[in-house]
Amino acid sequence: MTELADLSELARRRGFFFAANEAYGGTAGFYTFGPEGAALKRNVEDVWRDHFIRELGHMELEAPTVMPEPVFEASGHLDTFDDMILECGDCGATHRADHLVEDAVADIEDAEALEPTEVADLVAEHGIVCPSCGAPLADRPIEEFNLMFGTNIGPGSSSPGYLRPETAQGIFVEFPRLKEYARNQLPFGVAQIGRAYRNEISPRRALVRVREFTQAELEHFVDPEYDDPPLERVADVELPLYSAAAQQDDGDLEHHTVRKAVDEGVVGSEWVAYYLGESMSFYEDIGVDTDRFRYRQHLPGELSHYAADCWDAETEVGGTWVEVTGFAYRSDYDLRKHAEYSEEEFTVFRQYDEPKTVERATVDPDMSYLGPTFGDAAGDVADALEALARRDRSAFAGDGVTVEVDDESYTLPVEKTGFAVEERTESGEHITPHVVEPSFGVDRLVYSVLAHRHGTDEVDGEERSFLALPAEMAPTSVAVVPLMTKDGLDDRAREVAEELRAAGLEVAYDDTGNIGRRYRRQDEVGTPYCVTVDYDTLKEDTVTVRERDSTEQERVAVDELPSTVRRLTAGATLADL
Ligand code: GLY
Repeated sequence: MTELADLSELARRRGFFFAANEAYGGTAGFYTFGPEGAALKRNVEDVWRDHFIRELGHMELEAPTVMPEPVFEASGHLDTFDDMILECGDCGATHRADHLVEDAVADIEDAEALEPTEVADLVAEHGIVCPSCGAPLADRPIEEFNLMFGTNIGPGSSSPGYLRPETAQGIFVEFPRLKEYARNQLPFGVAQIGRAYRNEISPRRALVRVREFTQAELEHFVDPEYDDPPLERVADVELPLYSAAAQQDDGDLEHHTVRKAVDEGVVGSEWVAYYLGESMSFYEDIGVDTDRFRYRQHLPGELSHYAADCWDAETEVGGTWVEVTGFAYRSDYDLRKHAEYSEEEFTVFRQYDEPKTVERATVDPDMSYLGPTFGDAAGDVADALEALARRDRSAFAGDGVTVEVDDESYTLPVEKTGFAVEERTESGEHITPHVVEPSFGVDRLVYSVLAHRHGTDEVDGEERSFLALPAEMAPTSVAVVPLMTKDGLDDRAREVAEELRAAGLEVAYDDTGNIGRRYRRQDEVGTPYCVTVDYDTLKEDTVTVRERDSTEQERVAVDELPSTVRRLTAGATLADL
């Protein structure tokens, strides 16, 4: 079996994840996390929270998953969050046109960046056929398909809404309140772990391309002129970097420390480099194999509509690279857009060290002239004059001045504008913060950890399948198994399990099948330790502790068991006992 087929089979059999709604024929792109998967996912989220919220002193919020349409008009998702769709004329199957081209044309890896007409030409030139039925697709139209799931808020259709395509917008729209909570002091970071939704044209590769998924996103609001990242925290962290230049020149992965990556300009944004450095230990802690891991810079045509620079963290699974995190410098794009489309202020006040005397260009338009001359447009003309005075005072240097309102030009004599340049003393200014965003795909991380930690070996002459999860990530810390289900061994084993649970450990009790099968079951869900209750337990109150990876065993007194298991899960080995 391939690694991917193996992984899906293990995930289904052992209750990590499986296709949702199978009783009703299944729903492509939706997965249910079973008991083991839900616990593993929660552990990934907890480690993320620890690294990116608690340790860095950021805040966490929980916003609604349905948001009204104006939010997505402002964010750009309504207009630009599209994929190219191609429908087969024979069987009606729909496909992502850019993926068909990438699969069929060896030297094209990023067809998403091409125009639909270019993709249509490639489909025709390479004789691409429908993967479902084999019919030619050359003359089929390529259409833009918006990936957001739409709904109506309340009855009727007067208030359209969408399931959020990224958790980030729930943070941006609350910025006016959050900045007050942060006492108007930049920088500050706000994080959210929650569901996001994308109506993917062709869901595929299990948890990799799904229609509902969990994001863990941090939006760090910074003053672009004055705030620098604390690079010294991560300066010596070594990063495996695959730059846009290396990708374009058939170059290789390069290893640089964060400091060198910044000094040599390999990573252009210090903030992005800083978060690449902060994230490395997170991937290690959750169990990603760093030999199957890289940071890849986006190619210019690949950048999202909001991103000024972006690197992805990618893991190798089944021979292909999977994006697990995007590190984007979103500049002031989002807050500026929400300021433009909403009634709120999305700025913070930057206090000067010393008050400054500044020249300000102002206007005081003569409305007794603008009203009769421009009618309904008079108010907008006055606003446009004020904006023009702030932006370009030289426009008022001649006899007349022209402004544009809704694609119409309006010209009036300068003397009717009340234009003046005044000196004022100001204690500060309002600025729109910039945003640095590390955005993690939790489901893909779970998938990568399962792929990277799954292995097989031979134990007692039989093949064994195991999951070498770090102890902190394992759904179960310790399994208690009685040697036999007779002579009171099972009763004593249940008591031992209860004692371990009372000590706060995640414990499984298993008495089905023979002892070898029980060990195999626990090995395969990643349980790092098994405790066996045998006849010596009844005589001398000791148990054996078996280590998953080495399969070695050590005898331990029952009353020392909770503290022993704690020491082991914190990193001690059986030899240290
Ligand atoms: N917030 C970034 C993304 O959803 O891709």
